[in-house]
Amino acid sequence: MSQVFVFKDYGGPEGQQLIERDIPTPGSGEIAIEVRAAGVNPADWKRRGGAFGTRGTLPAAMGLEASGVVTAVGEGVDAFALGDEVLGAPARGLGAFAEHTILDASATVAKPEEISFTDAATLPVAGTTAYDLTHQVEIEVGQTLLVLGAGGGVGLMALQIAKVHQFRTIGVASESKRDLVEATGATFVPSGEGVAERVRVLTPDGVDLLADLVGGDALRELAPLAKDPSVIVSAADGETAVELGGAGRERSEGVLGTITGVVQHGLVDPHVVQTYPLERAAEALAEVETGHARGKIVIRP
Ligand SMILES: NC(=O)c1ccc[n+]([C@@H]2O[C@H](COP(=O)([O-])OP(=O)(O)OC[C@H]3O[C@@H](n4cnc5c(N)ncnc54)[C@H](OP(=O)(O)O)[C@@H]3O)[C@@H](O)[C@H]2O)c1
Repeated sequence: MSQVFVFKDYGGPEGQQLIERDIPTPGSGEIAIEVRAAGVNPADWKRRGGAFGTRGTLPAAMGLEASGVVTAVGEGVDAFALGDEVLGAPARGLGAFAEHTILDASATVAKPEEISFTDAATLPVAGTTAYDLTHQVEIEVGQTLLVLGAGGGVGLMALQIAKVHQFRTIGVASESKRDLVEATGATFVPSGEGVAERVRVLTPDGVDLLADLVGGDALRELAPLAKDPSVIVSAADGETAVELGGAGRERSEGVLGTITGVVQHGLVDPHVVQTYPLERAAEALAEVETGHARGKIVIRP
């Protein structure tokens, strides 16, 4: 038997629980891993709350990104062998907040030894999103990227990726995250009333790319700063981005391998601020659910 953190009902955190299940076995094209670390994302509690539908089988295993060691290999998998260190997104909704899970081999990459299991577990969701958001609209050296929600897991990686490309970066976050944002080399702009005017002073001609991690009214307020509405991209609120003339996040092919290489070469630090054991998964989730996390929170079974 093996432990997994689940929600038993759609709704609030009271439906969450650590339960026992059989160690899952890999099907064709899948690999089984012993989980070493799992990144916590806003999507975990949004899914529990029913934001992505309420028709899934319950209890539902939680956790959408993992790193670990291969313990079994399914039919037709040639790329991985027992003992390999890997990272990827759990297959078949089997969850990452678990002692053991299953990954789809085609959506898994080898973990370079330069990357810790903890950092690796932040790449399948947060890392790939940061990469896609900074590449979905092509901009050039010296052009300006504005990140709304800059102090969270995705935002901090997006700012660092942008620096690698020598974009000019501006990060909007609450005052408590000034140090984090400035450490990436970005210009910090405090969120809250008057934020659009504060950014406009820095970029009177507008921004070349607006990467949004907040959505709603906060995005609407900054949208007029985009040089063209088509340069607005949002991971948090695709609907509002489209309404404004921009787009939601589009997943690019091979992005997990690319961001893994970038982190391997020390160009981006996923900035994990805290790790929790599996028994304290509820606390880790609660911290992310506040909506004000600093960097990434990771669970280590
Ligand atoms: N579509 C996808 O594939 C995908 C993938 C990953 C993430 N996402 C979404 O992207 C969003 C961000 O994810 P994340 O992992 O970075 O979340 P996170 O780590 O929780 O960070 C969110 C950040 O937003 C900031 N924030 C909240 N309200 C703000 C405001 N009005 N102005 C400026 N900053 C504000 C918070 O900082 P303060 O405390 O400073 O306000 C926090 O640091 C979430 O909505 C998530 O669901 C989507």
